Amino acid sequence: MTRTNLHIGLFGFGVVGQGLHAVLERTPGLRARIGRIAVKNRQKHRSLPAGLFTFDKNDLLADPDLTVIVELIDDADEAYLIVKEALWRGKAVVTANKKMLAEHLPELIEIQRQTGTPLLYEAAACASLPVIRNLEEYYDTDLLESVEGIINGSTNYILTAMSRDGQPYAAALARAQELGFAESNPALDVEGFDARNKLVLLLAHAFGAVVAPTDLLAVGITGISERATAYAREQGLIIKLVAEARRLPGGGLAAAVLPTLVRPGHELAGVHDEFNGLVMQSGFADRQFFLGRGAGAFPTASAVLSDLSALTYGYRYAYKKIHQHAHLALAPDAAEVDVLVTFGTEAAPDKADFSAVHEELRSATRGNYLTGTIGLGQLARAAWLRAPGVGVVRLAAPLRAAVAVPELVA
Ligand code: HSE
Repeated sequence: MTRTNLHIGLFGFGVVGQGLHAVLERTPGLRARIGRIAVKNRQKHRSLPAGLFTFDKNDLLADPDLTVIVELIDDADEAYLIVKEALWRGKAVVTANKKMLAEHLPELIEIQRQTGTPLLYEAAACASLPVIRNLEEYYDTDLLESVEGIINGSTNYILTAMSRDGQPYAAALARAQELGFAESNPALDVEGFDARNKLVLLLAHAFGAVVAPTDLLAVGITGISERATAYAREQGLIIKLVAEARRLPGGGLAAAVLPTLVRPGHELAGVHDEFNGLVMQSGFADRQFFLGRGAGAFPTASAVLSDLSALTYGYRYAYKKIHQHAHLALAPDAAEVDVLVTFGTEAAPDKADFSAVHEELRSATRGNYLTGTIGLGQLARAAWLRAPGVGVVRLAAPLRAAVAVPELVA
């Protein structure tokens, strides 16, 4: 169904909601108007007339005049209920809620199939970068080999502020919060969970693999030790939080979010501040690189706006690759990764978990580290990974198929 005049019921009037309102004011070509806004906090002063706001979600969901719901609230559980209800009522939905989407993607795909009602979420992955629709539409006939990127703006802002400007971690995080980049629970950013949620969306649209966030290994930036930072400096490399999904030659997919040592010439090395960058590698097109603002009011609102515009010509995700590539599934035990593990005196990595240990250094003054190759599944299962003082950074090499170790013949 095309929706030429969009009457919007907006949930949430925070950073992105206000950004969307401002962006719509400046986009008269799109015949869209916000009819009603549902908010939670009764005390907050708001810049728009009080009559526009309601505290009851049903004022929006049950209003037949509001044909589109834009969901921009913080609470993923509440967002899930709103989005589901709206879809069942035949209202198109645009959302930026990556946590909610990642946790409920199979059900939300099924509801779209049953109702024929579109659910669009370009803003949920990489904010202003048009990656979801591109992966869904553009790369459908080419053989996509990998997507690899910086897909969380806050952590990239923090890592840039620390390495380029010498800011301490806490000050950089506080600034990312002030600027409206961070989640209201910033642990989602710094522990790698936000990037993992976005990776779930990329996997569905790039490879047709619908996975649960908990199926993916995610290591954030809080465990990056001074030793790891010094190692990076000595090697002339830059630490970035990188999400990667890669098709393995033997079939299956390897995917993870890991702090990663990036070479200076790599596209991702030039992604600074809250910018996001995504490199797509495909069989015939070769490498392509998207770069743009990955967080903040206007960049996120621009993607919501693009989804609203897409609704006016009847666009919906077909999830083509889920049908085309039904066989593609995560295979963490068929993949391996090269890592730097730094550790203190309390815990150490179990060397038996590694298929090869390349370097090992123990120093009472400079801290301990080892570098080695380990199975991706093995790394995800390793208890020492979450032990105090242990930090893991991926070395500057992609995830790859594990080389089978020949059995020893007695
Ligand atoms: N907290 C998110 C980030 C917001 O920093 O990337 C945009 O999704």
